[in-house]
Amino acid sequence: MPQDASLLVLFGATGDLARRMLLPALYALERDGLLPPTLRLLGSAAEEVDFPALLAAAVQGSAAVEADAAALARLLARCHYQPADFTRPESLAALVARITALRGAGDVLVHLSIAPSGYGPVCAALGAAGLADAGVRVMLEKPIGHDLASSNAINAAVARVFGEAAVFRVDHYLGKEGVQNLLALRFGNALLEPLWNARFVEQVQITVAETVGLEGRGGYYDGSGALRDMVQNHLLQLLALVAMEPPSHFDPSAVRNEKVKVLRSLRPIEGADVARDAVAGQYVAGMQDGRPLPGYAEELGRASRTESFVALRAHIDNWRWSGVPFYLRTGKRLRRRCTEVLVRMRAVPHSIFRGPGARPQPNTLRIRLQPEERIALTLMHKTPGLDRDGLALSQVALDLDTRDAFAHSRRRIAYERLYLDALQGRGTLFVRRDEVEAAWAWIDRIREGWDVLDLPPRPYPAGSDGPAAAAELLERHGHRWHDEDPA
Ligand code: BG6
Repeated sequence: MPQDASLLVLFGATGDLARRMLLPALYALERDGLLPPTLRLLGSAAEEVDFPALLAAAVQGSAAVEADAAALARLLARCHYQPADFTRPESLAALVARITALRGAGDVLVHLSIAPSGYGPVCAALGAAGLADAGVRVMLEKPIGHDLASSNAINAAVARVFGEAAVFRVDHYLGKEGVQNLLALRFGNALLEPLWNARFVEQVQITVAETVGLEGRGGYYDGSGALRDMVQNHLLQLLALVAMEPPSHFDPSAVRNEKVKVLRSLRPIEGADVARDAVAGQYVAGMQDGRPLPGYAEELGRASRTESFVALRAHIDNWRWSGVPFYLRTGKRLRRRCTEVLVRMRAVPHSIFRGPGARPQPNTLRIRLQPEERIALTLMHKTPGLDRDGLALSQVALDLDTRDAFAHSRRRIAYERLYLDALQGRGTLFVRRDEVEAAWAWIDRIREGWDVLDLPPRPYPAGSDGPAAAAELLERHGHRWHDEDPA
């Protein structure tokens, strides 16, 4: 049985992710008294730094947390730092010696927020120093590879040292309240599940739209693109949670067994189908709120064929979802930031209403995850009045804004949940190796299709809804993206 970690080793402690998310999340846990009492934090990065000063600056500069001097002092009191360069074995040896010295009686969580090429060497060094016992866990950031073969190689290098139960692969979307709420909505209500299948659902749309551009990450992003950066992980995780069968428990095996079945049931989009069912786009200069925005190539500083937008028409070939399209869409520099799952039900089988204003519209369930959490269910309602030509109908929305429903609860950084779980050894909200690999197997075929068919991304203006081809992808089937807010 895992026990609380008494040491958290953070590789990449000076990196962008650490400053923006990881250190503020640890601080928030400290402030709320949620860190294991004996936990020590050992930061590490290639360079010598004043780690306490860096940590304090990250917390004070974070918009997500309010710095409280006493809580910050408590977190600083837990801090240690040891520089280490994972390309140099002798420097890793010094680090593992420090880990052994600081370990204490509890478990150790080693969080690798470094280039994935370092995962194998760091794990090998931990193994060689006898630090791969049942009390040591590793937490890995994405990307786990850039295709199936490279992800296999990374996972295999980690697996030479650590069993799968000790490996915690992060998809930070799984740490978000709204994403976990998909499980609560589906499996905490008797109302939805009987309708959650091909008999009643006509289509599902999953959108992760961002307004940001490259954010100075062009070096990484241009070698990746939206398909690898977002669809392989975040969108497919959302899809798996929306489409999976009810797990029998909220535990790592039960939940992940169901998710991987969905990922393995995705119909391959390959060969000539790629041109039909997978749209790639890249933003060109445009406008947002009257402000000019640069194009992708200008931000990057050179021309590129990397996609900053993807739209897909996917199918899950199983009994529950046979024939139901899952439309997936993500992109940078879009008109608005919005992460949303939209489930559109089928039309009523027969309408008893006649007359001009009496056409029942299919019900939709809109689950917005970002920027606000909101759930809206559209229903047909009688339009008030004494109509002489039969009842008139209007579409109305039952609209729940969780900021009102849970006004007193604090918004958490996704990493607060993830750290808490990993420190305690709970793996349900982390991604298992077979999920990563099933996702890559599906993604690789789309990527290959674009390459073989020599399909460059289609231009779309920054600040727009993406390329026209993304709308056409649905129009061909009589569908459209439902972008408007609830009625
Ligand atoms: C990351 C991607 O995984 O997720 C980024 O690498 C993207 O490109 C980010 O911007 C989006 O996360 P969030 O939490 O802002 O929706």
